[in-house]
Amino acid sequence: MTRIPAPRLVAAAALAAALAACSSETPAGAPEAAETPAAAAAAEPGAPVDLAAVVKEREENFEAIGKAFKAVRGELEKDAPDFALIAASANDINARAMKIEGHFPAGTSTADGFKTEALPTIWEKPEAFKAAATKLVGESAKLASLAPGGDKAAVGAQAMAMGGACKGCHDQFRKDDKK
Ligand code: HEC
Repeated sequence: MTRIPAPRLVAAAALAAALAACSSETPAGAPEAAETPAAAAAAEPGAPVDLAAVVKEREENFEAIGKAFKAVRGELEKDAPDFALIAASANDINARAMKIEGHFPAGTSTADGFKTEALPTIWEKPEAFKAAATKLVGESAKLASLAPGGDKAAVGAQAMAMGGACKGCHDQFRKDDKK
C-alpha cells in the first residue's frame, strides 16, 4: 500500500473548508475568513499555499475590478446615469481593492514561472505597492459615498480620480504589454 502524498494542490477552498472542519479552535463563523486561497494563506501562516490558485484569484479580482470600473464609466456616459449602480460598483471595487495586497505573496512573480503582468517592483517596493492599493481603497470609498447624491459632475470627477489610482499603480507595478 503506497502512502498517499499530501494533496498540495487541492482546491484551496476545499482545503480551507477541511482545515476549518478539522480545527477545534476555529470558532463558528470564522471559516468565512478562509474562503479564498489568499485568505486561507493569511489565516494559516506557514501552511502550504496553492500559489497558482492565488495568481488565478488575483487575476479574477482585477478582471472584476475592470468590469466594475467599465460599468461606472458606462453610466457616466448616459444623460441619466444610474447612480445606485455606480455606488454598488464603487463598493465592489472598494471590497476588491482591499484584497489586492494579499494577492501578491512571495513566489508568484514571473521569476517563479508564473505568466503574470505583475512587475518585480511589487516585491521590491512593498510599501509603495501597499500605498497604491490603499489609494484605490480610499478613492473608491469616496466614489461610493458621493454617488447617491446624484451630482453627475462631482461623481464624474471622482470616477476620474479613482481611475488615476488604477493608472498610478499600473504605471509602476504592471507590465505594459502594449510596449
Ligand atoms: C495596487 C496596484 C493596482 C491598482 C490600484 C489597480 N491595479 Fe489593476 N492590476 C495591477 C497588477 C499588478 C495587475 C497584473 C496582475 C497579474 O497579471 O497578476 C493588474 C491587472 C489588471 C487587469 C488585468 C486583469 C487580467 O489579468 O486579466 C485589469 C483589467 C485591471 N488591472 C484593472 C484595474 C482597474 C480598473 C483599476 C482601478 C479601478 C485597477 N486595476 C487598480 C495592479 C493594480
